[in-house]
Amino acid sequence: MEVVEEATSTNAVLAQRARDGAPEGLVVVAEHQSAGRGRLDRSWEMPARSGLIVSVLLRPTVPTRCWPWLPLLTGYAVGRTLREAGFPAAGVKWPNDALIHDRKVAGILVEVVDTPTGMAAVVGIGLNVDLAADELPVPTATSLALEAGERGTPDRAELLGELLDTLMETYGAWQRDGEEGARRLRAAYRDACVTLGRDVRVELPSGAALLGRATDIDDSGRLIVEGPDGPVAVGAGDVIHVRPA
Ligand code: BTN
Repeated sequence: MEVVEEATSTNAVLAQRARDGAPEGLVVVAEHQSAGRGRLDRSWEMPARSGLIVSVLLRPTVPTRCWPWLPLLTGYAVGRTLREAGFPAAGVKWPNDALIHDRKVAGILVEVVDTPTGMAAVVGIGLNVDLAADELPVPTATSLALEAGERGTPDRAELLGELLDTLMETYGAWQRDGEEGARRLRAAYRDACVTLGRDVRVELPSGAALLGRATDIDDSGRLIVEGPDGPVAVGAGDVIHVRPA
């Protein structure tokens, strides 16, 4: 594991390590990022030492058609880590935001990198741990400190260890167990996905918006939305839960 005080983006640092031949499992952790990257070309900012900023290098051997499950798998692992750390309300908003009580506590950015030994995946996780209310990037976000109440905020180093263990265990079982592993992950993800059963507005990469009820996750990890013209399988987009749970 490489721990640095400051990085531009841990995903960018790890992508370079991957191109230089780093093995699966290399982890880069930073206390602060000067150019943190978010999904859909957004930025990701957090005060120094207020959260977990971590990237993990994976070199999956499963067929590339299965790779769209990597962001969902990571979101599931983050949600499970938080539930096991004492936040029973933690869940995943499709595809991979970790929420507590419908507020975003962690974001995930998975980037595919071409390396001399084949395609690799850089799995980046940003988790709000100690942020105070006035440090949140948007009012709809939260932090573990704000959700913890009297039980106290988990220690960042311990939480990082638990998160990496859960991520690698989930990933290992999914890779090893073939069809059965894929079936188990899909079932576990559906259970943890707080988007299912909700009315949603999906902002699609084309700029169009889709309104409907989120009903399922298909075999490819796409969100099924029952819209005005019938079911639509959504592979990418920004989901907004339009009504409280
Ligand atoms: C999102 O938009 O929700 C995804 C945010 C992902 C942020 C993490 S922090 C660690 C890693 N390095 C980055 O530059 N981004 C990811």
